[in-house]
Amino acid sequence: MRRAAITAVGGYLPERSLTNADLEKLVDTSDEWIVERTGIRERRILPRGKGTGHMATMAAQEALAKRGISAEEIDLLIVATVTPDHPFPATANTVAAQLGARKAWGFDLEAACSGFLYALSIAADSIAVGRVDKALVIGSDKMSSIIDYRDRATCVIFGDGAGAVLLEPTEEEVGIMDYLHQADGKGCAFLHMKGGGSLLPASIRTVRNRLHYVYQEGRQVFKHAINQMAEISEALMRKNGLTPADIAFFVPHQANRRIIEAVAQRLGFPLEKVMINIDRYGNTTAGTIPLCLYDYEKQLKKGDNLILSTFGGGFTWGALWLRWAY
Ligand code: UT7
Repeated sequence: MRRAAITAVGGYLPERSLTNADLEKLVDTSDEWIVERTGIRERRILPRGKGTGHMATMAAQEALAKRGISAEEIDLLIVATVTPDHPFPATANTVAAQLGARKAWGFDLEAACSGFLYALSIAADSIAVGRVDKALVIGSDKMSSIIDYRDRATCVIFGDGAGAVLLEPTEEEVGIMDYLHQADGKGCAFLHMKGGGSLLPASIRTVRNRLHYVYQEGRQVFKHAINQMAEISEALMRKNGLTPADIAFFVPHQANRRIIEAVAQRLGFPLEKVMINIDRYGNTTAGTIPLCLYDYEKQLKKGDNLILSTFGGGFTWGALWLRWAY
């Protein structure tokens, strides 16, 4: 049976770190509050003049270099992001051009924090049916471009970063095995950006009213995130006869350490089996899951079962089972 397997991972994190001490100077907050309520100590910030596409290109270049293949071999390139370089064209197109991926087609996928898992699923299916041979799936977000650094409830959480995976076909019992995804547009009320779309285009009024920033009702999102990530991961494992003992690592979206711990506990995963890097990068939206794979790559071995799970704006959520291929 033909499947898609991850054969390389790349990552990119901007050099500049924004620490909790730096945020104490911007808003009424404290290192103690941020660490206790979110588990975050620092996040990375991309400088002005560079966008999501730059980080996506850097991450993809690393993945290609690690595998030793040329960008010209890529058939499909998807960038998951809520912070595209431009409203149009797709960042995927400019990233392909920067990489020299001349024969690739592709698109941006907007599913907020679930974007990477949605994109990974679609690319894996395209490979499994034989339409595509090599695909790059990238999660990249410059969250600092849509964060209000006067809003203490959101500015402490988000950061910038990108992760990329290379997908190739395999006939072995490894790769993307199964997934379950869901969405509920009623969640829009609790997590969205009001201005800048066709409903409320940019104007002096939208700028003056600070409508070009992330709006989040944290408690509502928090509650839904724990329930939905736990339920969908459990359903996926049950469907495939998997127990926590079969899983090498649980790879959750990194939005809040308390959410990660609560979901892991509900599913029965000890924390040693949970990928966590939120302390260093915060919530990079579409970037968190590939950046976890990037950070933990050396600890993985061929045949390891991983459960990836996410929750984000939309609401969107999902879980994906994969067997590590190298
Ligand atoms: O990735 C996309 C999905 N997003 C998420 O999954 C995020 C989910 N939500 C969260 O992670 C949490 O809700 C937050 C981290 C956003 C907030 O934490 P919380 O424990 O839910 O706090 P809260 O909103 O219930 O606020 C508790 C108190 C409030 O003060 P009062 O009203 O009790 O006086 C807030 O004003 O904490 C206050 N507060 C802060 N205090 C110091 C909120 N932000 C801060 C802050 N520093 N940065």
